[in-house]
Amino acid sequence: MAQAATQSAFEIVTREDYSDVTYMLEISHPLMAKAARPGQFVIVMEHEHGERIPLTIADFDRDKGTITLVIQAVGKTTRQMQQSCQVGSSLYAMVGPMGIPSHIGQAKKVVCVGGGLGVAPIYPQARAYKDSGAYVIGVLGFRNKGLMFWEDKFRACCDELIVCTDDGSAGIKGLVTEGIRQAISAHADIDEVVAIGPPVMMKGCADTTRPFGIKTMVSLNPVMVDGTGMCGGCRVKIGDSVKFACVDGPDFDGHQVDFDDLMVRLGRYRPTEQAALQAWQDSCRLRGGQGHAH
Ligand SMILES: Cc1cc2nc3c(=O)[nH]c(=O)nc-3n(C[C@H](O)[C@H](O)[C@H](O)COP(=O)(O)OP(=O)(O)OC[C@H]3O[C@@H](n4cnc5c(N)ncnc54)[C@H](O)[C@@H]3O)c2cc1C
Ligand code: FES
Repeated sequence: MAQAATQSAFEIVTREDYSDVTYMLEISHPLMAKAARPGQFVIVMEHEHGERIPLTIADFDRDKGTITLVIQAVGKTTRQMQQSCQVGSSLYAMVGPMGIPSHIGQAKKVVCVGGGLGVAPIYPQARAYKDSGAYVIGVLGFRNKGLMFWEDKFRACCDELIVCTDDGSAGIKGLVTEGIRQAISAHADIDEVVAIGPPVMMKGCADTTRPFGIKTMVSLNPVMVDGTGMCGGCRVKIGDSVKFACVDGPDFDGHQVDFDDLMVRLGRYRPTEQAALQAWQDSCRLRGGQGHAH
């Protein structure tokens, strides 16, 4: 891990909103930018009393000394950050880069699949495969055209790009699994599929490639607490073994992952998360809908 954790200012230098719920933050941190590898993540605290949340390093620019996070506002902390993380403000803490970098091997033809927010974390892998000389097929899935982002970044590093939308408003109508099927039928020599998105999507991708025996890597997102392998919060079942996603992953062989167990574990905290969100929203209403309630 870089010495990044000890630097005090984590200034937000760029912000872009991709939809009502998805926003991008570019954060100045030359050391982190230098150390970051595709597949790694950071743990962020927005303010001193805030929750620690893991976020994937969706891009890094070593020349500018920045890392990029793409965040979906789903609960208390990510919505709070959506309000208060503006250009010129700083995060309270950012630790990383954490996790084992994705293995960019000798594959000659790779399909990089991103579903929804998963489009952001798959990007550094697509670029790294392209830099390694591989033929890269991107498959990006969104619910509709209005939620699309980073198509231009993918066009720049993919040899082929298949966009899928649930409602057919852009690209082909269908899920990313349909995009994978199209890629497989057009190319008999795909070495590897890499998929990032909601667990149910990654499960679908692994099920699609299994009959073809194509190696399929996925990035798991269990609830993480310390991020150091000590608390056991991010336990996942991989084949016959139990692994900790924060230190053994987050990338794993999708054909070995017990996705049903992952989905049950993710659902376990839902009542507490909903109560925290409700309390925060109530407190915002009392303050006139602005500012951040700790
Ligand atoms: C390795 C990893 C990388 C991730 N990368 C991204 C990313 O790039 N962008 C992004 O928007 N989200 C990412 N997430 C998910 C993100 O951490 C959660 O959305 C966030 O913690 C939700 O916090 P909340 O208070 O807003 O919502 P809550 O209401 O607390 O939770 C909403 C949902 O987020 C998940 N979640 C909650 N707390 C945690 C936690 N401590 N660790 C992991 N998941 C949690 C659960 O599925 C939960 O149901 C990543 C998660 C992991 C494990
Ligand atoms: S987050 Fe605690 S062991 Fe992984």
